[in-house]
Amino acid sequence: MLPISKMAAAVQPSATLAAGAKARLLKSEGKTIFDFSLGEPDFNTPKHICDAGYKAMLDGHTHYTAASGIAELRGAIARWYKRTYGYEFSPEQVIVSNGAKHSLHNALASTVGPGDEVIIPTPYWVSYSDLVQMTGASYALVSTTEKNGFKMTPAQLKAAITPRSKLVMLNSPSNPTGIVYTRAELEALADVVLESNIGVISDEIYEQLVFGNAKATCFAMLRPKLAERTITISGVSKSYAMTGWRMGWAIAPLHVTKAMGNVQSQETSNPCSISQYATIAALDGDQTCVETMRVEFEKRRDLVCRRLNKLPGIRCPIPDGAFYAFFNVEAHFGKTLKGKPIKDSLTFCSAALETVHVNLVQGSAFGAEGYVRLSFATSVDQINKGIDRLAELVS
Ligand SMILES: Cc1ncc(COP(=O)(O)O)c(C=O)c1O
Repeated sequence: MLPISKMAAAVQPSATLAAGAKARLLKSEGKTIFDFSLGEPDFNTPKHICDAGYKAMLDGHTHYTAASGIAELRGAIARWYKRTYGYEFSPEQVIVSNGAKHSLHNALASTVGPGDEVIIPTPYWVSYSDLVQMTGASYALVSTTEKNGFKMTPAQLKAAITPRSKLVMLNSPSNPTGIVYTRAELEALADVVLESNIGVISDEIYEQLVFGNAKATCFAMLRPKLAERTITISGVSKSYAMTGWRMGWAIAPLHVTKAMGNVQSQETSNPCSISQYATIAALDGDQTCVETMRVEFEKRRDLVCRRLNKLPGIRCPIPDGAFYAFFNVEAHFGKTLKGKPIKDSLTFCSAALETVHVNLVQGSAFGAEGYVRLSFATSVDQINKGIDRLAELVS
């Protein structure tokens, strides 16, 4: 029998992708499923971006490119940060990869390994822990609570740092909680980072999807010298409805982008040439499409939270960004709902899928038992019908 490596054996399948696959299976059996499991916009990629991809194909941009991405795109990314945040860096500090998940993998693979530790505040995006483990490093979870707004405090970060700590992973706006750290909160964390020897991976992929008065902050530019310690991760998947194009990037000090470029050149070579040209159009083009989608997500957030908070035994904090509601269902633990005993978030989600055909993701997958994640990147009609079904389950 062919062997399976220790690394591969230790990797868990992505819980969110697994939840999506389960729903697809039930759908293929003819069942109507209200699927709230996937973290991808339900909008089509805006036309001017598709046109740029099509034009790239017709113009013959269908060959290998520089492994770290074409200079024009790295320049467009640098321009976008200067315009948006006033953050200035050279295009050589950018490396473009096959989605932000790949950027995260390359960033971790290029900076940590066996014996190193990476600090991850919980609740966290399902892939962080596995991506760390794949490098041979270990992770240390720092628990945050709803009472503290699901935010890691400077004291918690300070207490988590050991001689083995190499990195802390930040994610604001956050998947799964939708929380957005304020600038002052991030500055306080930045000061702890600068007093120590650790670096930061700041995953800012939901930065353009913030609601109300919330504002996304680019962590690397909060303090002088912080950029030398920070790898900023982002991409077009969420803000431009481009999940399938697989375009993400990392911005880092030159010695890190160089190392990441070497890793990528051996791993995958360049990311898709056509997607790179489409991404230039996304970043340099008219940004109205982003605002239109953001406004729609905000409306859905209001609807979801208003309706969920009326259901018995459900408490839904209001997310300030991304497109997830992360709500508490602990009041149902120990009960039987529609004949299904509920003992934790996993059994709650299984009961929801099997009895009322609502697909959610258990909080335990994000390191937060007691909670359930609902992605509202789906139509208002689906949201209303799905929550009607959920009401049937919990009433
Ligand atoms: C927090 C976070 N980071 C990164 C990603 C990966 O994005 P991409 O589709 O660009 O790989 C996701 C996708 O769900 C995410 O939620």
